[in-house]
Formats: sequence, C-alpha cells, structure tokens
Amino acid sequence: GAAPATSAAAEEPPTLPIDRHTGCPFDPPAGLTALSDRPVRRLRHADGHDGWLVTGHAAARAVLSDPRFSSRYELMHPPMPMEGLPAEMPPAPVGEFIGLDAPEHTRYRRLLTGKFTVRRMRQLTERVEQFTVECLDAMEQAGTSADLVEVFAQPVPALMICELLGVPYADRDRFQSHVATVFDQRADMEAKGAAFGAIHQFLSELVAAKRAEPTDDLLSDLTASDLTEEELIGVGGVLLAAGLDTTANMLALGTFALLSNPDQLDALRADPGLAEQTVEELLRYLSVADPIPRAALEDVEIEGQLIKAGETVTVSVQAANRDAGKFPDPDRLDIHRKATGHLAFGHGAHQCLGQQLARVEMAVAFPALFARFPGLRLAVPPEQVPLREHANIYGVISLPVTWDKEQS
Ligand code: HEM
Repeated sequence: GAAPATSAAAEEPPTLPIDRHTGCPFDPPAGLTALSDRPVRRLRHADGHDGWLVTGHAAARAVLSDPRFSSRYELMHPPMPMEGLPAEMPPAPVGEFIGLDAPEHTRYRRLLTGKFTVRRMRQLTERVEQFTVECLDAMEQAGTSADLVEVFAQPVPALMICELLGVPYADRDRFQSHVATVFDQRADMEAKGAAFGAIHQFLSELVAAKRAEPTDDLLSDLTASDLTEEELIGVGGVLLAAGLDTTANMLALGTFALLSNPDQLDALRADPGLAEQTVEELLRYLSVADPIPRAALEDVEIEGQLIKAGETVTVSVQAANRDAGKFPDPDRLDIHRKATGHLAFGHGAHQCLGQQLARVEMAVAFPALFARFPGLRLAVPPEQVPLREHANIYGVISLPVTWDKEQS
C-alpha cells in the first residue's frame, strides 16, 4: 500500500535510476528495483521538477488509460537528463500524433488503424518470412560469425518499414543511419539537426512521389486521405522513429536473453508452437521502450497519492513488468508463463500501433534463426557484450555470435 503523504513529502525525492549495468544485463537497474516498494512515489526530474514515478503494474495501467494524463511533450518535464535538451519541451511537430491527445490524436489513430487490413498484414507477414530466410542465407554464406545486430536484428525491422512506406529495401540508407543519429545520445545537437533535416527531406520527397504515383503500401493509402503533406511527413516520421529501433533491440537483446537461458531456448526449439508465447515473455522481461512519461491535466488520485495538475508522471514500464503482484517470480525468464497484460507496448489510447507487426517480426525471426543455426552462441563472454546503457531504447550495441558450419 501507499505510504502516508506526510512521510513521502518529507523525503528528498530520488532521480530516475537508469544504469542497468549492475549485474544481469536483462534486469532493471538495482536502484529502480529499490524504488519499487511503493507503486507511486515522488521523483525528481532532470530539470529539478518534483513529479512522480510509477512502478506498480496496476498504477501504471491506471495512468496510461486515463485521459486526464496528457501525452503532449510541451506539458512534460523530461524524466532523465539528455544532452542539449531545451529548458522547455517544444510541442510535437505536425502529424507526430504520439505527442497529441484526443481528439487530435484520435483522428490520426483511426486513420492509421484502418490501413492495417487483414490483407496487408498477410502480405507483410509473407515478406518478413521471405526476407528472414534471405538474411539467414547471407549469414551462412558469409562465414561462421557475425554481429547479429548488423546482419539480422536491424535489417528485418528496416525491411518492414520500407514495406510500409513503399520504399525499395536498397534505399534504406536514406533513413536508417539518420534515425540512428537522432536516437544516439552521444551525437551532438548539430548532428541531430542535420539528421532530422535529412529525414524530413527524404519523407517529403517520398510523400510527393506517392501522391503522384501511389503504390501498394500504407503511405500511398494515406495520401488518399485528408492529411496534408506536412501531416503525412509527420506520420511517416513517427513510423520511422517507433518501428525501427524498438524491434531491432528486441531481436538482438531477445537473442542474447535466450542464449543466456539455454533451458528456455531448448524448450522453444523443442516446440516452435511456443514462439508467440516466447515473444510475449521476452517483451515483458526486457521492456526495451522505457519509461513512458505523461503530464497530469487535472488533480488525479492514483493509489492514494494525489497527483496535481501540471505534474509529470513517469511510468516505469520495466518496473511494472517486474511487479511480483502481477507476474509471480518476475525476474525469471519463463516462456511457459502467460505474460499477457505486460505493458511493453504501453496501454490505453497510445498503445503501440505497430504491435501486431512487431509480434509477427519476432515470432518469425527467433525460431528461424535458432533452427538455421543449432549451434548459435556468443562469440565473446556475456559480460563483454556492449549494452546501450543510457539510450531511449534499451538493448545491445552489437551482439557478436558464432555458429558451426553445416555438415551436410
Ligand atoms: C507506440 C513500444 C514496435 C509504431 C508505442 C508505445 C510503446 C511502444 C511503449 C507507447 C508510447 C506511449 O504511450 O507514449 C514498441 C515496442 C516495439 C514497437 C517495444 C517492438 C517490439 C513498433 C512498430 C511500429 C510501431 C514495428 C510501426 C510499424 C508505433 C506507433 C506508436 C507506438 C505509431 C504511437 C501510437 C500512438 O501514439 O497512438 N510503441 N513499439 N511500434 N508504436 Fe510501437
């Protein structure tokens, strides 16, 4: 239960612990686990603002499903320090609906949801299946070791985005490296500005091309809607930003986690029917997209704590997905558990629009990889795998793997 308000107010609020490198690379930072004894508590944000940290599963769901908590960037105080962050967050650019509330958000959301038809999902699934085989063929031909991030975890999501935008896979360099720069915490503001410019240029040319000559893809379909050119560019930007790094990091970190839990990997190999359940459990266990911030539009009480209008609430997805009240023995990767109800895709109005695609990518990619290379293993000791310590999306920087040459 929640501590009395008086004792909570008397304490100096902690800042968000983000350093995961304190032991197991798959576990939340020890400092965060220590704060999870209370589901809702004070948090000092990067700019000194005292907002709230939500670590309980029920409390996280309550916040994310409540329209009194806004997704507008300009109302939020950033949860953690970031290089070159402006004192006040600017509002989302036109079309960037992840940073909007109802009813503006709802308009984009409905429009996009309607484009993920059964036919399109089937087509995309077939493309991922083919492309996964092509990637595995290329790995096999190239030798017996590779960086899995480069040869597998990044290409598969990049193909999916190319398919959605109607871009040939060969043209992925027009956005892939720029998106990486935007998300790179070590890149300076000048480099990020240049990358944003290049992405905008790419998308504006693409939107013009699809308007002139629509092809069979989501972006072309959207050009037939009432969205303006600038809105289409914004929507394209959201897909690039949300769809690339998230899935790539799940594929690479998920492989690392399975290789580190050989009993679980053996169980998956023995029964590929467990693929979908494995994907859900990996999503829960790894929680790569974290945290999710919101701003209170009104006074709201969550689990006995009064959150005041204007305060920022930082929802820790990793902590909520390790809430023992919801997931017994939460620190154990267990592909036999029912991990449904995890918050790795968020919850409520903004719950991940690409979640079915992401699930398909992973449910195809993991079993195919482990079936092709039965002897797949790390090429370095696990503690030498470089981790994305302070990135917006958690994962590995590279994953050196090796496998045996096929004997047949
Ligand atoms: C939103 C996670 C893959 C498109 C979100 C949110 C999370 C998330 C946590 C909610 C953000 C919030 O509430 O503020 C993930 C993870 C993925 C993944 C972990 C991979 C495993 C994808 C893919 C796409 C995509 C492949 C596109 C093809 C989106 C979009 C939104 C979103 C458009 C914004 C939805 C809205 O604001 O209504 N994602 N995502 N995501 N995601 Fe994903």
